[in-house]
Amino acid sequence: MISGFRDVTPQAIAELYDRRSERTAELLGGSIHFGYWPDPSEDASVAAASGHMTRLMTDALEVRPGDSVLDVGCGTGRPALRLARATGATVTGITLSGEQVRLASAAADAEGLADRVSFRIADAAELPFPPGSFDGAWLFESLLHMPDPRHVLRRIHDVLRPGARLAIANVVERAPLPAASRRALDTFCELNRIAAILPLADYPALLADAGLVVESVADVSDHSVPQTFRALCAALRTDGTEVPPEEREELRTLIDAMDRLTETPEVGYAIVVASKPRRPR
Ligand SMILES: C[S@@+](CC[C@H](N)C(=O)[O-])C[C@H]1O[C@@H](n2cnc3c(N)ncnc32)[C@H](O)[C@@H]1O
Repeated sequence: MISGFRDVTPQAIAELYDRRSERTAELLGGSIHFGYWPDPSEDASVAAASGHMTRLMTDALEVRPGDSVLDVGCGTGRPALRLARATGATVTGITLSGEQVRLASAAADAEGLADRVSFRIADAAELPFPPGSFDGAWLFESLLHMPDPRHVLRRIHDVLRPGARLAIANVVERAPLPAASRRALDTFCELNRIAAILPLADYPALLADAGLVVESVADVSDHSVPQTFRALCAALRTDGTEVPPEEREELRTLIDAMDRLTETPEVGYAIVVASKPRRPR
């Protein structure tokens, strides 16, 4: 674990997603990631915005029919299935949560894509694939859980073929936070088993350290962060499902933190794309 990172264990992450994936995905339009609103002031649904973010990530990979893609932190499988359908690629999704593997595999079966899209439990820090296995990979809002992103990026570099792209979508820090917002972000991270939210400015060096070359950096915060937090807070406030008594206080604390983060422009969201050089550097 690196200094400044929370010590989030794989077990704690698995426990959270085993317990919460189905409901969270319902509230966020099927996937478990922030949305993208092309017109920031427009009132598009969370599901439409979620689909738009997945399209941006899909386009970033530039994969073709028959290519193989690694989805590192696949959630309930929705982004992988969309990627497979849109591009004709084969996708392997990994996650720490057994419940996510169950939900994602059932979705692949239901959509008739199980021959091209599969899901399994694996830790990004110990990728169980031979070197050069994939024509593309993404970390779709999963890097934030990882206590050693440098190590994970190196391992992903190893399993990519030369010329392959890695797309990262993640919550980032755009500037130092005021104290009250810092406390809200700490609470948000604690409750969501997030190891660290890194400054966007740190990404080029992290990727270079892993032997990857930055292709593009897009700060999409204004199209994503306040809208997603606002929609999630509203959905949780009116959510009719019965919350177990022991989880009610935690839920109230989470909503308060996200309310504050809605008004915190220093917390952003970015899509960073890198590639593995065709010749070793
Ligand atoms: C916020 S969810 C994103 C899910 C999905 N990518 C999406 O966009 O809907 C984070 C995902 O990262 C996965 N994850 C976190 N740490 C991981 C690790 N070390 N190895 C594999 N998966 C991990 C979690 O299991 C979960 O599936």
